[in-house]
Amino acid sequence: MYALHGKVAVVTGAGSGIGRALARAFAHKGCRLALADIDGRSLSETAAMLPVPAFTQTLDVADRAAVFAFADAVKREYGTAHVVVNNAGVALSQTLERLDYEDFEWLMNINFWGVVHGTKAFLPLLRAQNDGVIVNLSSIFGIITVPTQGAYHAAKFAVRGYTETLRQELEGSGVFAVCVHPGGVRTNIARHARHYVDSMGNTDPARAAAQFERLARTSPDQAAREIVAAIERRKARVLIGADARLLDWIQRLFPTSYPRILRAMLRRMRT
Ligand SMILES: NC(=O)c1ccc[n+]([C@@H]2O[C@H](COP(=O)([O-])OP(=O)(O)OC[C@H]3O[C@@H](n4cnc5c(N)ncnc54)[C@H](O)[C@@H]3O)[C@@H](O)[C@H]2O)c1
Repeated sequence: MYALHGKVAVVTGAGSGIGRALARAFAHKGCRLALADIDGRSLSETAAMLPVPAFTQTLDVADRAAVFAFADAVKREYGTAHVVVNNAGVALSQTLERLDYEDFEWLMNINFWGVVHGTKAFLPLLRAQNDGVIVNLSSIFGIITVPTQGAYHAAKFAVRGYTETLRQELEGSGVFAVCVHPGGVRTNIARHARHYVDSMGNTDPARAAAQFERLARTSPDQAAREIVAAIERRKARVLIGADARLLDWIQRLFPTSYPRILRAMLRRMRT
C-alpha cells in the first residue's frame, strides 16, 4: 500500500474534469496540493472548491522551462513533491491525411511532451527521497485506435511506452510509475477539442461534443477514485471504466480485426 496522507500531490490540468476531481480526491486523502492549469480562472475555481488551501500556478505544460520553474516553485513551497500526475491534455479530431503540422504539434506538445516535461522536472525530487509516484494519463486510445484520432493515438501510445519504460527503470527504488487508460469520462475535453471531422464523418464540433458526453459513462469523480486506488495499490496500469476494460479485452482477443467490431458497436450505440 502506498500511503497518501501528508504527501505532496502535484496535478496538471487541475482546472477541469479528471484533474479537478483528482485535486478533490487527494485533498480528502490528506495530501498537500500543488495544482497547475493553462486556464488560471478555472484553476482558481478548483482551488476554491477544496477543503484545504492549495498552491496553484498558471502553467502551459508544453513550455519546458515553465514546467521546470513550476517544479522549483513547488519545492520552495513544500520542500518536495511525492505524487506527480501529468494529467493536462487536449483532443483533436482529423484524418492523418488532412491533419496539418500546426495542429499535430499542438497536441503532441501538450499530450506527450507535457508528460515528459512533468516527469523530468519532478523525478529528481522523488528520487532524492526514494519515495514517490509518477502518474501519466494515457487513454484507452493508447491501446486501441479509431480513424480521425491519429494524433491523439500517437501521443497516448507514446505516453504508454514512456511510462512503462519508466516503471521498469525505477524498479528497486521507492519510486514507481502508473499509466492510466480512461475510457469515456464526462469532462470538458470534447468541448475544448480542435474538431474537424470524426470517424462517422461528423464535422460539427458541438454535435460531436454532445455525442461524446452522451457516450461517456464514467464521472470524473469515479475516475479520480480509481486513479487514487491504483496509486495506493502501486498498480502499473489502470483501465478506467467498464468501456475501457471491455475495449482492452476486445483488442487482446482480436488484435487486428477489432476495428470492425468497434465500428459495429458504435453503430448500435448511436442508433
Ligand atoms: N475525458 C475522457 O474521456 C478521457 C479519456 C481518456 C483520457 N483522457 C485524458 O485525461 C486527461 C484529462 O482530461 P479531461 O477529460 O479531464 O479534460 P478536460 O478538458 O476536462 O481537462 C483538461 C484540463 O487540462 C488543461 N490544459 C489543456 N492544455 C493545457 C496545457 N497546455 N497546459 C496546462 N493545462 C492544460 C485544460 O485547461 C483543462 O483544465 C487528458 O490527458 C485526457 O487526454 C480523458
